[in-house]
Amino acid sequence: MICGRWHVLGTCQNPGFAGGGSLAGGEAQTYHARMGRSRRWWRARGAALAVLALALAGCVQNAPLDSLDPKGPFAERINGLFWPVFWVAVVIFVLVEGAILVAAVVFRDRPGRAEPKQIHGSPRLEVVWTVIPALILAGIAVPTVSAVFDLTKCDSGAMSIEVIAHQWWFEYRYPEEGGVVTANVLVIPAGQEVCLSMTSEDVLHNFWVPNLNGKRYLIPGQTTTLRLQADEPGEFWGHCAEFCGLSHSLMRARVEAVPTAEFDAWIDAQRQPAPVPAEGTAAAVGLAVFEARACTQCHFISGTNDVANPFGPNLTHFASRHVFAGATLPEQDEDRRDALKRWIANPPEVKPGSFMPDLGLTEQEIEDVIAYLETLQ
Ligand code: CUA
Repeated sequence: MICGRWHVLGTCQNPGFAGGGSLAGGEAQTYHARMGRSRRWWRARGAALAVLALALAGCVQNAPLDSLDPKGPFAERINGLFWPVFWVAVVIFVLVEGAILVAAVVFRDRPGRAEPKQIHGSPRLEVVWTVIPALILAGIAVPTVSAVFDLTKCDSGAMSIEVIAHQWWFEYRYPEEGGVVTANVLVIPAGQEVCLSMTSEDVLHNFWVPNLNGKRYLIPGQTTTLRLQADEPGEFWGHCAEFCGLSHSLMRARVEAVPTAEFDAWIDAQRQPAPVPAEGTAAAVGLAVFEARACTQCHFISGTNDVANPFGPNLTHFASRHVFAGATLPEQDEDRRDALKRWIANPPEVKPGSFMPDLGLTEQEIEDVIAYLETLQ
């Protein structure tokens, strides 16, 4: 009699067998021997699948939010803490699991075995296994606590950049660089430390660019600081790491580290007011739509729309940013223009809860607005 796959959790659910009455001695032994083998086979298969799944999880190619891939001194510092702690944990895991396995196999119950001596507690053992973990934790705590403070305490010479979180995008201001204001893409000079001074306009957010440093909260009414440095030029992905409402998952960040000369040129360009489109061009029509549809109430455009308290991202140099809408668009392999169309046509559909409303623009109006936006280099 074999229950095969129906034998789950020790209960035979084979309709032909369940409640089938008692088995003769020899038949029962064969049955239980087979059952033992079948259960072991299933367990071994389960364990092999779990190991395979874990191994495959390490094969992912495109992982821009990899916290084990430091690209600057602050992420390096975190990595330097992670690996020793990881290996200490591995040693403890192997010792403890090994002891459990040995005990389970060597001291397992066997037919005819006498019941072992029953004991209760061992003060000496308990002191040992309390003191050793306490010492290990203290050993980990000392460098960890000092790193936590070091990673957020800016160097006095570092360039200060303000980060303001909004539902659901990050705004960046460069007070020492002529008050440049931008959004979604944080441009920094490579090889230099910058000091982020962060706050939030609405709810709790968290700024996290794993290649460059750990996470830090942005809190309404408070300022927190975070050091950032990329050793080499490159693009680094970030994400808001605190649930902050409907589109938290679409609140992303990009950091672009560029050579110093390129950074200076970028700052110079960002300081310039937006160009005013020549009359009769599609861009001029787009600007007229932009004004008629009240986009001007929320978006500052230097020299064109100097609105006092802009609610949305500053668009003065919108076209110089390769991502928009909380750094979520365009999606991978999506045409920028198509993404812009999708976004302007119905923002809350792309980003649930978006405060940029569906203005009901016609297709032609959307084309015109895009023609204008693309001149904002
Ligand atoms: Cu902002 Cu999550």
